[in-house]
Amino acid sequence: MKHDMSAKIRALKNGGARRDPDLPEMPKGHFYPDHYTLGVDLSEVGHIKVRPVREDDAPLLEELFCSLTPHSVYLRFFSFLRQLPPRMLERFSRIDYRKEVALIALRKENGQEKMVGDARVVETSEPGMAEFSVMVTDPLQGKGIGACLLTHCLAIARHKGYRRIYGIVLPENKQMLALGRKLGFEIKRIPGSSEYELSKDMDRDEK
Ligand SMILES: CC(C)(COP(=O)(O)OP(=O)(O)OC[C@H]1O[C@@H](n2cnc3c(N)ncnc32)[C@H](O)[C@@H]1OP(=O)(O)O)[C@@H](O)C(=O)NCCC(=O)NCCS
Repeated sequence: MKHDMSAKIRALKNGGARRDPDLPEMPKGHFYPDHYTLGVDLSEVGHIKVRPVREDDAPLLEELFCSLTPHSVYLRFFSFLRQLPPRMLERFSRIDYRKEVALIALRKENGQEKMVGDARVVETSEPGMAEFSVMVTDPLQGKGIGACLLTHCLAIARHKGYRRIYGIVLPENKQMLALGRKLGFEIKRIPGSSEYELSKDMDRDEK
């Protein structure tokens, strides 16, 4: 890939994959894409609802973050965050759907809706290019939630016209590398780094 994979990528990972450190200007009466919502039945998990993130989801996002082990936090954020800083939490829950897709998976547990996963595709400053990220609560990893979220995110991203989707993955992240392979991402070692870039050409690939 031509783009710089250094400090910029760290900032993206930690700030919600946006180059501009400032929070987005939300358009007046901004659009909430309710039609992205769907229900999925997974054999080992039961029914999950996948829907776009709303501004009032911040407490659930915080709960999801707290359900991750430090290792999962490191794999997702490339740093050992102990909590989601308020600004990051706000950034993750205030979504400008013109420029990004943010989906969560919800599951009923003891009558209460719990957030069990989150996936995003966020536009970068390079035209047609967007970065993905995904995380699933540790107790429910390996049961299909990540694949389901990312597949839905990619379908929406394709519909929005992004040409290429990519994500940076640490070499020890076997689950993400396996998931990327399964979803048809091209996997390349970043020159001069131990990290991998997973990328998908949306024009060519109909997966
Ligand atoms: C990476 C992650 C999002 C994957 O989500 P998930 O719900 O656990 O993955 P899924 O159950 O959908 O698995 C999809 C595929 O990944 C592979 N996979 C999942 N868990 C695996 C494991 N423990 N070992 C090997 N492969 C695994 C399998 O190929 C699986 O396909 P299959 O079930 O058809 O064999 C999740 O493990 C996670 O949140 N990890 C921590 C955060 C992170 O690493 N985020 C990615 C950085 S962008």
